[in-house]
Parts: sequence; structure tokens; C-alpha cells
Amino acid sequence: MNVDGLATPAVLIDRARAERNLDRMQAAAAARGVRLRPHTKTHKSPLVAGWQIARGAVGICCAKLGEAEVFAAHGIADIRLPYPLNPANADRVLALLDRTRLSFIVDHPVVAKQWSEAMVRAGRRVEILVKIDVGFHRCGLDPDSRETVATIREIAALPGLDFRGLLSHAGQAYHAHSEDGLRLMAESEVRTMSDLASWCRAKGLAVDEISLGATPPSRFSLQQDGFTELRPGNYVYFDRTQVSLGAATLDDCALTVLARVVSKPAANRIILDSGSKTLTNDGARGFAPAPGYGTVLRQPGGHSSSGGHTLSGGQTMSGGNVLSGPAVADDTLVIERLSEEHATVKVTTGSTTLEPGDLVRIVPNHSCVVSNLVDQAWLVDGDRVEPLPIAARGRIT
Ligand SMILES: Cc1ncc(COP(=O)(O)O)c(C=O)c1O
Repeated sequence: MNVDGLATPAVLIDRARAERNLDRMQAAAAARGVRLRPHTKTHKSPLVAGWQIARGAVGICCAKLGEAEVFAAHGIADIRLPYPLNPANADRVLALLDRTRLSFIVDHPVVAKQWSEAMVRAGRRVEILVKIDVGFHRCGLDPDSRETVATIREIAALPGLDFRGLLSHAGQAYHAHSEDGLRLMAESEVRTMSDLASWCRAKGLAVDEISLGATPPSRFSLQQDGFTELRPGNYVYFDRTQVSLGAATLDDCALTVLARVVSKPAANRIILDSGSKTLTNDGARGFAPAPGYGTVLRQPGGHSSSGGHTLSGGQTMSGGNVLSGPAVADDTLVIERLSEEHATVKVTTGSTTLEPGDLVRIVPNHSCVVSNLVDQAWLVDGDRVEPLPIAARGRIT
């Protein structure tokens, strides 16, 4: 099978690009001497998790127990949930502890106590990390509060809980306005976490792990000492937002959406079959976010709205490896509006050679949510195209 034969819209994963992204992050983490524990929220695929472990990742992260259940069933031996689990889920946690090494975060003394009671009742222990708020203001204890060290010590002393250390997520990095702003956020996160760990240690508490993670600040975090674990997720595929945040080039983006032109109501407007149920309504973020719902790629030697020649009689992409060659944006095509199943594309030059039936590829604004919308993506490996099941897709509980 080749890409031309796929029903559209389809999510394509370029294996060579994804593996190159994994190699680079693994090498950077190893060079700094920190453990890499990728967040699997981006790919939700046991196959891709296997590539990460094979390269040296110490384990994986999942957000939800449902995802962890899928990965544990596929033999992943060390799973961390940097998510504030509620003890209402104690039975599922106990079942998972029989299958894998599991750890999760707590950031609330009452919830921590309830977990402790649940573990003591079951005669079990579970590893926990205390979540610290480093500026995203989502979950986590305030590192600047006078009570925080005491709260961490209180949680760490609870029976049934094995305190491993501190964990943060600088999600505010997605709102950075510049490279310098992003660097300052990354530096501040490492400093905040290592200072807090020192204060805890000064009070006699062993802090074995300091875990940070998000793709945009990783390149700056990895220039510093003072943490033990990095948890990026998006870096496996990247997307238009990461390009806009300087974390990747367009050519690094491994996930693209294959879409077909289904109508051409005017010379300067085409309609694709990939609406918000494929591309999602997420806008691009970044230093200077580009308008629209994704970057349409120019095919090497193929279509362009400024009049390039078409491939395969104008109806298809090339056969074989359509993903080879550098990815180049067709800036004359702007996906300006999405309905559920339509993308309305404006041709800024006034006309395009694209016609109904033609295929295009799109780098979406946010790859994690795109892969969660399909049961199966397509792995493009050289000339081979094969199904890539997204086994943990939709596991939101
Ligand atoms: C707690 C936590 N850790 C790590 C990550 C991975 O971050 P990124 O998607 O930027 O790689 C996320 C992403 O949402 C997260 O919420």
C-alpha cells in the first residue's frame, strides 16, 4: 500500500522523523546525565513507547489510569502519572501495582492522607512525588509559601506512601513571547526545584528525584544541573506550535494529516475533508503564532498555488515515500476556518492548481490532540505504509 491509497483524512507518522526526534532528546538527556521519562500523551502507542524504552527511557508517563492500563498490558514496566489522581480510583491503582511499577503525584495533604489510608487498608505501598507549582498555576504546592517544606514532610511521613521526590511542569512555557522569555522560565523552574529540594534535605528529608518536563523548555533545562528526570511528550512528533516556540523546525514534524480536496467553490478557495474532528480547533501558540489551523505542506516538485506542476496527473501524491525530502510550507494556503468535517482554505495568491481529488499534507497546530482522535494512524517507513494502532486513544478516565 502507498499513501495515495489511504482513505482520507488520515494521520501519517513519518517513522524516520519520529525516531530522529527520539534519538536527539535521548542523547541530550544522556549528555546531561538525567533520566528521560517521556510522556506518552502525544502518541498513546505502545509501539512508540517501545522505541523510547529501547533508546534508554527509564519508563513512561501517562496522564490517566486508563492509559496506564493499556501500557501496562503491553508490558511497560515503569509508569508515572504526573496527574493528581483521586483515591476514588484506589482499586485501579492496586490492580496496576500488580502489573507494573507505578508512581503518581500528590499536591494536597487531605488527598495524600486518603491515599495513605487506602494503601494501609490494602496492606500495600505506592510511590508518590509531590507536585510543585513553578508558575503554570494549575496543580501543585506553592514553592514560595513558608508552609511548603512542612507540608512535603508531612506527606512524605504518611504510612503506605513512598516519597520519591518533587515534580513540576512548566506549562506556562507555551505562553512564552520570546526565546529569552522561554529560557528564563526554564532556568527559573530548575532553580526553584533544586532550591526546594535543598531546603527539604536540610530538614532531613531524602529527595531522590527532581522531575521536570515539557517540550518547549527542554532545550534550556538540559543546559542546567539540579534535576534528575525530564518528561517531554510532544517532542516525538512536534507540531506547528513547537515550530513557533523554536523547539523544532517544520522538517522535524513527524505527524501530518493527509487530506483531500473535496471542493473548489472559487479560484481562491478550496475545501479539504479534514475538519475540526481531525485537525481540532486548537489554535497555534508560540512567539508569533501563525493564523489558521495548520501548515499546508508543499509537495516536493508538486502542487503550489503559484502554479507548480502536479504529480500523477494532478490527482494524487507521488507513490512511494511521499514524506521524503525537506518539508516546506505552502504559505499561500491558509486554513482559515474549520467545520466539523470541512477545512476552508484561502488561497492568498488568488488561484491554485489544486483541484478536487488532489491530496495535501498538513502539519497541525497540536499533534497530541490530533492523534487522540483516530483509532489508527499510518506509519510511513520508507516506501512502506502500515497501520499504527493508537491503543490508548480516548482513555480519559
Ligand atoms: C505534567 C506533565 N508533564 C509533562 C508533559 C509533557 O509536556 P509536553 O507536551 O510539552 O512535552 C505534560 C504535558 O501536558 C504534562 O502535563
